[in-house]
Amino acid sequence: MSANDNGGRAAPAMVSHDVHGSPPYERVFAGPVRGELDTLLGRYPTKMAALLPALWIVQRERGWVSGDAMVEVAAVLELTPAYVKGVVTFYTMYHQHPVGKYFIQVCTTAPCAICGAEDVVKSFLKHTGTGDLGLTSPDDRYTVIEVECLGACGFATPVMINDEFIESVTPDSVSALLARLP
Ligand code: FES
Repeated sequence: MSANDNGGRAAPAMVSHDVHGSPPYERVFAGPVRGELDTLLGRYPTKMAALLPALWIVQRERGWVSGDAMVEVAAVLELTPAYVKGVVTFYTMYHQHPVGKYFIQVCTTAPCAICGAEDVVKSFLKHTGTGDLGLTSPDDRYTVIEVECLGACGFATPVMINDEFIESVTPDSVSALLARLP
């Protein structure tokens, strides 16, 4: 039976350390973080069920979910790396590359676009110095992206800065918003 015949489960795998000149991969789930995961696993009926929160831990610890981290999560939860990658790439909330300290999501779906969301995006790009969507500013503080409806269509333009939800952002209010970030 192959790993894929088992609902995504596989025997625990070795984590790759051979990355062509890159520093060896350092496990996320070691020490206290491993203890946190073990506590988490106690709350779920199967290891597979803890996949999403395990990925959140990875992202909290590293800022993004690398390919090596996916392999580690797969090994720890007895899943295949392909299964983990499928989940990571399905949900836009998981970063597949490094992002800035402040990850800024601006809704540009039609109702917000009609109310001027594109100008809000332009203002963020200008004031963060990122230059373009998806890029990170030279000081590593900001990454700006457009997202689909954030569920606040009556309060255009809604923006998320990391976990903070902010309504009624205008091009003129962007600089003050950024100025209050530590
Ligand atoms: S379309 Fe922007 S929040 Fe719904």
